[in-house]
Amino acid sequence: MADPVLAILETYSAYTNREIRRVIEGRKKVGRLQDMMMYHLGWLDEQFHPCDFKGGKQLRSTICLLACEAIGGDYRPALPAAAAVELVHNFSLIHDDIEDGDDKRRHRDTVWRLWGVPQAINTGDAMDVVSYIAIMDLQVDPVVMIEVLRAFNETIMKLCEGQYLDMDFQSRAAVSVDEYLQMIAGKTAALIEAATATGAMVATRDRDVVGRLRRFGHKIGVGFQIQDDILGIWGDPAKTGKSARNDIRNKKKTLPVLYAMQASRDREELKRLYAKETFTEADIDRVFAILTEAKAYEYTARKAKQYKDEALAELDGLCPGRRAMEDLRAVGRFLIDRDF
Ligand code: IPE
Ligand code: IPE
Ligand code: MG
Ligand code: MG
Repeated sequence: MADPVLAILETYSAYTNREIRRVIEGRKKVGRLQDMMMYHLGWLDEQFHPCDFKGGKQLRSTICLLACEAIGGDYRPALPAAAAVELVHNFSLIHDDIEDGDDKRRHRDTVWRLWGVPQAINTGDAMDVVSYIAIMDLQVDPVVMIEVLRAFNETIMKLCEGQYLDMDFQSRAAVSVDEYLQMIAGKTAALIEAATATGAMVATRDRDVVGRLRRFGHKIGVGFQIQDDILGIWGDPAKTGKSARNDIRNKKKTLPVLYAMQASRDREELKRLYAKETFTEADIDRVFAILTEAKAYEYTARKAKQYKDEALAELDGLCPGRRAMEDLRAVGRFLIDRDF
């Protein structure tokens, strides 16, 4: 694999997947429930035959393990947390695809498209609970365990709050940038922050160090979602594995849209369009043209880079020269620079 970050992700994903498999396959099989989870994770095909299809990028679990290794010298104590974080992420995606009405995830049909909304809701719920089963395997002091679980609950609550705001904004005419930042802090940054903070909490009791890893995760998480907003409009479906322009179709109030509503010379037309009940294909084309013309891409990319720079600065001078710290910084940069 040419890109060193992709090689890092491949290595650490294998560690996490072994842990996830142990938890899911360790349970007695009930019909197709586990199989639907394993389909979503990319390990089974639609007929539930094993496949070597690539699942997600596994960014969150990888930065959890790297944070632990960078601080404590070994990634292994964080494995249950890495598995839990990846499972929460995947539970949220199964539900998110129902909420957003999306047909495609990771180049394949979404769980609800294949097996219907009721089973997809239950599969997501089950995966959420499996994350709790996974995290209970952490071998840490009971005081640390309670702190970790408290933070884990808080994270999932923030994620649900962020998802609430994301959906609420779809039907609202005006959303401020501050409201947008509050929304993405919940739906996306909270879990990425939990990944680095938990990895650090397992490795050290030094609150200053944990705080720096937490702030790194938060800022890189905000930048990551801003980059996801770019990909949701200008991304290549062949690379992202998601349907093209669905953020526009769904009238998502993403950062490029909020910017163009302020800065575009066609902002009144744009607002009129967003006031419509639903978009036609011609409306979607027009919105796309207005956003591109207003240089919303360039603005949004600058914002993502700002968060990336601020995030990396949190780690400056921390464990210099340690390979896992260099890898963590590299994966952090990739979260923003990626095109899929
Ligand atoms: C997608 O996250 C959901 C967001 C919060 C933007 P990823 O891009 O990390 O998804 P996978 O796991 O790699 O598919
Ligand atoms: C996903 O947000 C956030 C969560 C699942 C919590 P999006 O809806 O923006 O992500 P994609 O584009 O579907 O991956
Ligand atoms: Mg979505
Ligand atoms: Mg969504």
